[in-house]
Amino acid sequence: MSTTTSTIATAAPEHFTPVPLDKAYRLLNHGPTVLVSAAHAGQHNVMAAAWACALDFAPPKVTLVLDKATRTRELVEASGEFALQLPTVPMAAMTVAIGTDSAKTHPDKLQQHGVPLFHAPSHASTHISTHIPLVHGCAAWLLCRVIPEPHNQQTYDLFIGEVVAAWADERVFRHGHWEFDTAPDALRTLHYVAGGQFYATGTSVRV
Ligand SMILES: Cc1cc2nc3c(=O)[nH]c(=O)nc-3n(C[C@H](O)[C@H](O)[C@H](O)COP(=O)(O)O)c2cc1C
Repeated sequence: MSTTTSTIATAAPEHFTPVPLDKAYRLLNHGPTVLVSAAHAGQHNVMAAAWACALDFAPPKVTLVLDKATRTRELVEASGEFALQLPTVPMAAMTVAIGTDSAKTHPDKLQQHGVPLFHAPSHASTHISTHIPLVHGCAAWLLCRVIPEPHNQQTYDLFIGEVVAAWADERVFRHGHWEFDTAPDALRTLHYVAGGQFYATGTSVRV
C-alpha cells in the first residue's frame, strides 16, 4: 500500500525558530487541534488530531490518541516517531480534509488537499530521523519519540511521546510565550468543536 507520493520542499518556513525544550509544553498548553506527521520506509502521512495534550515538563512529554484505523498510527508504530504541529486559521479546511480522508483509501490525500510539506532540520543529538514531513503554515512544530507503553497503546489508543525538538513561528511564539494578541490573526490556532467547526484562539486574559 503506498501512502502518499506528495513531494516535500526542503526549505523551512521563513519564521521557523527553535523553541527551548523547557518551553516546549507551552506550545500545547492551550489545547489546540494538531496535525500528526509520521514517516517510515519511504512513506509519510499526516492526519488531524484533537486529542493531544502536554504531559510533563522535563523532559517534555505529550499524549496523543491514535485510532487503530489510521494509516498514521501504522507509521508511528513502525518508526517510533511522530511530529505534532499546530495548524492555523487559514488551514482549517485542509485540517478537516486530512482528518476525514485516510491514506488507506486515499493514498494521494496530501497531494489532493495541497498539503505543503518540508523536512525537519537535522537533529543529530536527538537521534530522530529527519524524514518526518512537517506542514508549512503551522504556528508550531514538536518532534517526538514514542515512549513505548504497549498496554496503553493497545487498550486506549494512547501514545506517549517525548518531545526531542520543537520550533515555532517567531511572529506568534516569542520568549517562551504565545503572543496571539500582537501576531497576525492568520496565525491563530484552531480548537475543534465538532462537525467541521473550530474556534480560533481568542484574546488573552491576564490575571
Ligand atoms: C478535527 C479532527 C480531529 C481529529 N482528532 C483525532 C484524534 O484525536 N485521534 C484520532 O485517532 N483521529 C482523529 N481524527 C480523525 C483522523 O484524523 C482521521 O481518521 C484521518 O482520516 C486518519 O488519516 P490516516 O488514516 O491517513 O492516518 C480527527 C479528525 C478531525 C477532522
